[in-house]
Amino acid sequence: MSTPAAPLPLAVLISGRGSNMLAIARACAEGRIGARIVSVISDRSDAAGIQAAASLGLVTQVLEARGLPRAEFETQLAAALEASGAQLVALAGFMRILSAAFVQGWAGRLLNIHPSLLPSYPGLQTHRRVLAAAEREHGASVHYVTEELDGGPLICQGRLRVAPEQSEAALSARVHRLEHRIYPMVIGLLAEGRIALAGSTVLLDGRPLAAPLQVTEEDTPPRQAADS
Ligand code: GRF
Repeated sequence: MSTPAAPLPLAVLISGRGSNMLAIARACAEGRIGARIVSVISDRSDAAGIQAAASLGLVTQVLEARGLPRAEFETQLAAALEASGAQLVALAGFMRILSAAFVQGWAGRLLNIHPSLLPSYPGLQTHRRVLAAAEREHGASVHYVTEELDGGPLICQGRLRVAPEQSEAALSARVHRLEHRIYPMVIGLLAEGRIALAGSTVLLDGRPLAAPLQVTEEDTPPRQAADS
């Protein structure tokens, strides 16, 4: 009789609200994905997500980055990740740019979620810029992290049609809802060993992914209270 594989130890890095971290935590707790959060780390002591994670009984750590040289912060972060036993790191609203050396040390084991259909709209204030450009389509992307900001190999995208007269807040909420679906989904696939990185190519079941996996808003189940 085969025994189920041990859950993949995962660290989640946040700077703010942490709703993606909570969606991942819920998917782990409900056994929907084969991962286990071993640490939630914030670079800000005032990140709301840290309180939320602690109230779920997750291990939390604040590594205050303000006023610290980047190399010093990253030394502390590397030590915290090592101590946690994490084998995968998910950036989830983590607002610091990590150095090339740090990123290379975690190559293939470091994910990010970004609120746009990359390569369109890297950087900040994506919803506002998408609305200003009258784009008809928007969404979110999960990708491996490389030295290029918001530029690593894409794994999955959640897509939506921008509604006419959509407010920035409403658009942001819709994108978040997609994010809460695709980020746990990708982590689940990684935990099953179905997704991997070879050089700069994403593999699914051992074959190069021709295009990022696609999820649409229609595929997304109705909002749950804790999602937003
Ligand atoms: C998300 O929109 C994510 O794509 C971006 O930062 C935001 C974090 O939101 N990187 P939350 O803290 O998970 O609610």
